[in-house]
Amino acid sequence: MAHTVKNFDRLIGLDGFSEKLLKQHFSLYQGYCNKLNEIEEKLSTADRTTANYSFGEFSELKRRETVAFNGTYLHELYFENLGPTLLTPDGALSEALKRDFGTLQAWEKDMRACALSTPGWVLLTHNWVDSKLHHYILYEHHIGLPVHQKPLLAIDCWEHAFMLDYGTAKAEYLNAFFKNLNWNVVEDRFARVLKHLK
Ligand SMILES: [Fe+2]
Repeated sequence: MAHTVKNFDRLIGLDGFSEKLLKQHFSLYQGYCNKLNEIEEKLSTADRTTANYSFGEFSELKRRETVAFNGTYLHELYFENLGPTLLTPDGALSEALKRDFGTLQAWEKDMRACALSTPGWVLLTHNWVDSKLHHYILYEHHIGLPVHQKPLLAIDCWEHAFMLDYGTAKAEYLNAFFKNLNWNVVEDRFARVLKHLK
């Protein structure tokens, strides 16, 4: 079944994010979604007998399938967890963050350090293996994420996410991100973990 592009126009007007930047970012996301559909369609008929490490249509499609999927899904996570509703987390999520990072301040400090460490993505995840919260950094869209994770929060750290508004001042972009972090969405994702839902 084809993947459908989601609309995130509700974010236009968000303090710290220009309309021009957001619209360009939405276009990038749509491009990944379209490519995911194109790859899946081509894979349905690609010749399996020519699969090859150096080059082959089927092999190339498989190598880029995860890029397009993660490029789509990670952007949806990111746009969904933008938009202010709560200033700080509370309840079960807050307790879990304190359990695994010490304090909420230490958690944010760690996540900011992760963001400055990657040109790609930072994810806060629930790790189903050790049942703890972790930060993981991704290079490109498909490199660096351990298996068996439930993403709870995503920060897009690619330059296209901030260069237009902040130049190389990535820390200022992170200030805008944390100011506009939609904790309700993150808490809902964690509530699903506690119910053992995907
Ligand atoms: Fe992006």
